[in-house]
Amino acid sequence: MLHEISYIGKIVEVNSAIVEIEIDSEITSFTRIIDGRLYKIGQLGTFVKFPMGNLTLYGVVSAVSNRPGSGTTNLLMPDLGRRYLQVQLIGERLGDLPFERGVGIFPTIQDEAHLVTEADLKYIYGEDHAGLIEIGRHAASENLSVYLDLHHLVARHSAIFGSTGSGKSNTAATIIKQIMQKNPGARIVLIDLHGEYASAFENQARIFRIQDQQQPLSLPYWIMTFDELAFFLVGRTPGQEKPEDKRLREAILLLKQANSIRLKAGSVNPDFITADAPIPFDIRKMWHDFNREVHGTYSQAQKEAQNRMSEELIDEGDPYQLIPARFKPYTPNNGAPFKSKNDLMANYEQKIYSRLRDSRFNFLFNPNSNNTENDLDQLLRDWIENDQRLTILDLSGIPFELIDISVGLLTRIVFDSMYWGQKEPYTGRNRPILMVFEEAHSYLPKNEANHHLFGYARKAVERIFKEGRKFGIGAMVVSQRPSEISETILAQVGTFIAMRLTNSVDKNTVKAAAPDNMTSLIDQISALRIGEAIVVGEAIKIPSRVKIEQITPGPNSHDPEVVRCWQQIFTPDETHYQKIVTALREQKNIDDLNSPSPRRHEGHQFD
Ligand SMILES: Nc1ncnc2c1ncn2[C@@H]1O[C@H](COP(=O)(O)OP(=O)(O)OP(=O)(O)O)[C@@H](O)[C@H]1O
Ligand SMILES: [Mg+2]
Repeated sequence: MLHEISYIGKIVEVNSAIVEIEIDSEITSFTRIIDGRLYKIGQLGTFVKFPMGNLTLYGVVSAVSNRPGSGTTNLLMPDLGRRYLQVQLIGERLGDLPFERGVGIFPTIQDEAHLVTEADLKYIYGEDHAGLIEIGRHAASENLSVYLDLHHLVARHSAIFGSTGSGKSNTAATIIKQIMQKNPGARIVLIDLHGEYASAFENQARIFRIQDQQQPLSLPYWIMTFDELAFFLVGRTPGQEKPEDKRLREAILLLKQANSIRLKAGSVNPDFITADAPIPFDIRKMWHDFNREVHGTYSQAQKEAQNRMSEELIDEGDPYQLIPARFKPYTPNNGAPFKSKNDLMANYEQKIYSRLRDSRFNFLFNPNSNNTENDLDQLLRDWIENDQRLTILDLSGIPFELIDISVGLLTRIVFDSMYWGQKEPYTGRNRPILMVFEEAHSYLPKNEANHHLFGYARKAVERIFKEGRKFGIGAMVVSQRPSEISETILAQVGTFIAMRLTNSVDKNTVKAAAPDNMTSLIDQISALRIGEAIVVGEAIKIPSRVKIEQITPGPNSHDPEVVRCWQQIFTPDETHYQKIVTALREQKNIDDLNSPSPRRHEGHQFD
């Protein structure tokens, strides 16, 4: 063995899974050519093996020193001519069996250490097959592909972390492309906060976007629970039950019950539903009725006698255009027509009205698709059973304060459909889904109070991380700030793709959460180049530093060309910013400004 070209030295210390090697004094060059490939001895993050008869142990170089024991270089008292490598043991291979993580038997003093060659790594990573997806090339050997195990990547969840501009979106897009290339039946739903991904998946994805003419993203309000809807409409906090809250709950329940027997997706027994059930109901009609009872005038003075029979109506108005009913003015001095005595809902009626009128909430209350004509089954088919393997839910047009509830709702619908359909042949466990959450720090924080969020998104996504595996849903979070992400989510991440991260708090979070005790590799993340990642965890056989290629077309997230742009001089013009302000007010992309407004809500089926 000593004569083998891969030999580098002998073990001088074994301390749990850390092994120290003294490099052979006869080795004068730190590079070695084996089978025409150049290998560097003692590069951090490279691999070393320890052949022990039929068993070979593998480790990764975590420190290089000229002094034994400490692992740090001592410049004042160098142990002249001696060189030491600290190696973290990571796995073993028995004979020709596949590589296994973890070690059963430890090496001992004087055991030999060898360089790991590309041929060895090929055995470790395994040959390409349907269950593997290529994420990039090994940083230490350019022509060695690194594969991720698709099953573990999806079923055990994953995370891509890195500072802004480190290449996360490009990595996410690469992984999605690779999955789609190899899996004709894949199902991926991508939550795209900034509308970046459409450019990377033209004609390969179904893209839903707010105000889009062809495929508008709509999230019907009636899928909210009563607590969610009441908070959103009138600011009621859960648990509070004033008389008007009780009334609101009853009104919603009655409208849902009435519709429950004529749903497109099939009738539901009205006795079994609650105000929380995701059943279409006509919120405009509910507002209109409240308005009518508060502002009506009557031929009768007593509260009990004030009803539709005694109304002094001029015209009915129109709930769908938010036009209230009109009444004869009441007579001030206690004569007919009498003023309404039912003013319980006066405050809520006004709050609901202002919500319904606000065009920023159109995607909830007045979606292009008439949401009571399309029941929930239609929405689910659109999102997770369309002609493409990837669905991009582009939330870029959603007001910031609604991101939390929107991500929460759409994640919950997908999760619930997988939960209740877990045994159906076309979904659930029989047809898993991967959900990718971009810019996760903005809606999955560990401390909502600091972010003015209410935890809708966090609770829904945590549920996937905790239980999704059993019902066929996997998740991937992508974020710049791992330290701000919910700890429940971090604790369930099986595979970490850590890109350049310089903030020490974020670095420590990844270090603490990453499995395999691969702290020495994770330590490198502040020195990674753009597009490089340390990949550790369940989906990768051996923790690796990987170079991910930039894909074209890629996500629309290029840095601005600061210098080129600043070389040009722009003269102020009165027309400047006009279109931008219109787009800002209408909450539409500039390119869509001239398209007609979303179709008005015309007919109603469930009222
Ligand atoms: N693998 C790569 N190789 C070379 N350049 C890359 C690579 N990946 C991304 N880039 C470049 O780096 C820039 C930022 O990439 P990307 O949008 O993927 O970063 P990000 O981490 O998602 O940033 P943010 O957190 O701001 O969303 C882009 O201009 C892209 O062209
Ligand atoms: Mg990005």
